[in-house]
Amino acid sequence: MSGKRVCVSDFEVEAREILPKAVYDYYRSGADEQHTLADNVAAFNRWHLVPRVLRNVSTVDLSVSVLGQKLSMPLCVAATAMQRMAHPEGEIATARACKAVGTGMMLSSWATSTIEEVMSSTTASQCGEGVLWLQLYIYKDRELTLSLVRRAEAAGYKAIFVTVDTPYLGRRWNDMRNHFQLPPHLSMSNFSSASLAFSEKNYGNDSGLAVYVAKAIDPTLCWDDITWLKKQTHLPVIVKGVLNDEDAVKAVKYGVDGILVSNHGARQLDGVPATLDVLEEVVKAVEGRCDVYLDGGVRRGTDVLKAIALGAKAVFIGRPVLWGLACQGEQGVVEILELLKEELRLAMALSGCRSLSEVSRSLVRRVEFASRM
Ligand SMILES: Cc1cc2nc3c(=O)[nH]c(=O)nc-3n(C[C@H](O)[C@H](O)[C@H](O)COP(=O)(O)O)c2cc1C
Repeated sequence: MSGKRVCVSDFEVEAREILPKAVYDYYRSGADEQHTLADNVAAFNRWHLVPRVLRNVSTVDLSVSVLGQKLSMPLCVAATAMQRMAHPEGEIATARACKAVGTGMMLSSWATSTIEEVMSSTTASQCGEGVLWLQLYIYKDRELTLSLVRRAEAAGYKAIFVTVDTPYLGRRWNDMRNHFQLPPHLSMSNFSSASLAFSEKNYGNDSGLAVYVAKAIDPTLCWDDITWLKKQTHLPVIVKGVLNDEDAVKAVKYGVDGILVSNHGARQLDGVPATLDVLEEVVKAVEGRCDVYLDGGVRRGTDVLKAIALGAKAVFIGRPVLWGLACQGEQGVVEILELLKEELRLAMALSGCRSLSEVSRSLVRRVEFASRM
């Protein structure tokens, strides 16, 4: 590992220097005034860890089973679109890094490499064992949507994470000011026409992506569409973007295989709670009937530990992977994942936990005077 990068924010500082401003802004931004963006991170400081001592922590086992797949740690990679803007190898570098570290990657529908390319790049690499899942946006064109599912099934992806918080794109002010669009040499590779591949020339005086979503993505989506999707595929279906107990109960009723508590990295509706603040509510409502995962603001090993203590089976990271990619491609992503893995191992050891089964609710305590932190 490089001597100078010791935490996730070191990678972000370096990535900011490297990336063109419009790309950094797209990756970094949240919606509107970005209150939730800051709160996703701050929420982790509203919980203390209460360690146990004298427990022989000479070995700590971080392994976990996620959707039937054994992973080396409970930290996976969330879908982030258009990764080739960060590095020429984009999603392929990320997938290889995940495999090397032994964890899972959720590939965005809006990847700048195809579903098949990403899978074959990982099968070609000898070392490690990873798993790929597809993140699915439901398009107005359902045949097109299903073709993505079919391609994922054929290529060997192991689950579908259907994003349910994006009937329209959130207002991301920097992208609106920058008239964000893909650089001309890139496209959303899973689609052949320029209009669906987000490679048209002119999106007017707005965020190009907001225009794209309004044209292509289905805002009529409702719970019956989950039933529809479940009928179309034998793969597990996880809903990505649930933020309260009532929707969690509904998701279970509609037969989902998992729930990802997510506010889309605070990029959709500003003013929603930090994901950590609603995790326990969702976990209680689900009553063990499916796995619950979390993403949003995870930047340290202690964050992972707190989320696990509050009931998440595993957590996902978005932006940190993009910073790793920008800094050093595949190796940069490996470094980010190894860094968080080592931070988690240490946090578990210092808390007296030798395996994830020993991480319980009693490990965390809500800070009473959070405003003084
Ligand atoms: C640049 C960027 C692109 C994203 N693209 C997608 C996407 O294509 N599909 C999706 O479901 N979520 C997308 N997300 C949301 C992530 O999957 C995830 O929920 C979020 O990044 C987690 O928060 P974090 O960045 O604080 O770790 C994106 C997030 C970012 C930052």
